[in-house]
Amino acid sequence: MNNIPWGNNENLDDNQFYNRSIELTHLKQMLLTTENETPPNILLTGNRGIGKTVFIKKIQKELEEYGFLVIYINFSQAECFRRKNMTIEGLMQFYFKKTLISCNNNKLINIGEKLKKYFKTNNFHFKEFQEVNGIPIPIFKSEINKEDLMEYVLTFPEKIYNNHSDQLKGIIILIDEFQLIKELDDYKESFLWNIRSYIQNQRNIAYVFTGSMSLNDTLISEISGHNGVFGGRMISFHLSTFSKTTVKQYLNEKKPGLKFTDGGFNRFYENTLGIPAYINNFAKILPENIEFTSDSITREFNESIYQISSNLVNIWYELSYKNKLILISLLNGPARRIDIAKSLNVKSGSLSPNLRELENLSLINKTGNKLYSFTEPLLAKWLQSEYTEKGEYPFTSI
Ligand SMILES: Nc1ncnc2c1ncn2[C@@H]1O[C@H](COP(=O)(O)OP(=O)(O)OP(=O)(O)O)[C@@H](O)[C@H]1O
Ligand SMILES: [Mg+2]
Repeated sequence: MNNIPWGNNENLDDNQFYNRSIELTHLKQMLLTTENETPPNILLTGNRGIGKTVFIKKIQKELEEYGFLVIYINFSQAECFRRKNMTIEGLMQFYFKKTLISCNNNKLINIGEKLKKYFKTNNFHFKEFQEVNGIPIPIFKSEINKEDLMEYVLTFPEKIYNNHSDQLKGIIILIDEFQLIKELDDYKESFLWNIRSYIQNQRNIAYVFTGSMSLNDTLISEISGHNGVFGGRMISFHLSTFSKTTVKQYLNEKKPGLKFTDGGFNRFYENTLGIPAYINNFAKILPENIEFTSDSITREFNESIYQISSNLVNIWYELSYKNKLILISLLNGPARRIDIAKSLNVKSGSLSPNLRELENLSLINKTGNKLYSFTEPLLAKWLQSEYTEKGEYPFTSI
């Protein structure tokens, strides 16, 4: 009962995790083939807030119990990303750290002096050891060649498997927020092709790549399309919105005190778009034992939109001033680049990096007829409601 998680919770317990049983079975079946040395490479797509992260974490738990080593690597937690300096070296160091921590948690590699000795005798280009949760993590020397580094880090899981094949059914590597590689210069040539060359022949290691990507994100076709880096060998797996029936059952079960007229429920569903993050935030805020009609739901939604879409609001406040202006210029509908430039009073050419950044963040997309449009209706709605209420757009958070 009333065990609805907030929309920013990335670790749901089994009572909180709802629905998705068919998807779970399918993805698990695919990953289990790793045991027979036919590991899949999977690209898991789905809108922001749809539940990709909680889904792969659920899979992680279940496959660990089954006997796999599962390594969860979220690129947005890499130090180099946080410092706004994405580099292959930084990502690889982070990848390596996460791999070692997972091995340690699964008691595959002894911590402490033994680990140090291992790396010293297998002498690679390490500069020093940094203690993370009591584990000495080797830090690579900065002059190390990028390709050697990738090879070392990306083939390391194989070595672990080979050394522990009696204890492990296989290794599953889950890479979250993978779209952030777009921040690397020349990510395609320097990163994607390399990754592919190292992982494609690994017989005991499966990979799931996921992150916030809209379905028409070019990265998706660059990875899994026929002419993409994986040449059609990457399996696409999509998480969809919750259906109306699912949401009805979910709310009945989790918050039975929540009452709607039919129209009220329809409006709840329309406003939250079938996206679990927004469904949860809104359902948590609504008081119980009041029957909501279409009108009263609309009112509640407008009043609480800030809390409901808090993930988007946070993204908004981190945008540069110019990026904010671009989004505002799109509030009235899709526009061509030249029209956006006009409304910002800048040269059209100067918009390139900004438009790319907004596309990478999946906040806008470009359609075939060269029109840019807003892809996050809740963010647009929040901005409009701020403007209506305060007479100006929220440029700063105070
Ligand atoms: N199966 C589920 N059952 C109940 N709630 C869910 C489920 N999936 C997602 N949610 C809710 O949606 C929220 C967002 O989920 P999650 O962070 O996994 O989304 P995401 O697809 O990874 O989003 P992003 O693209 O922003 O990373 C969760 O915190 C939770 O509140
Ligand atoms: Mg996520």
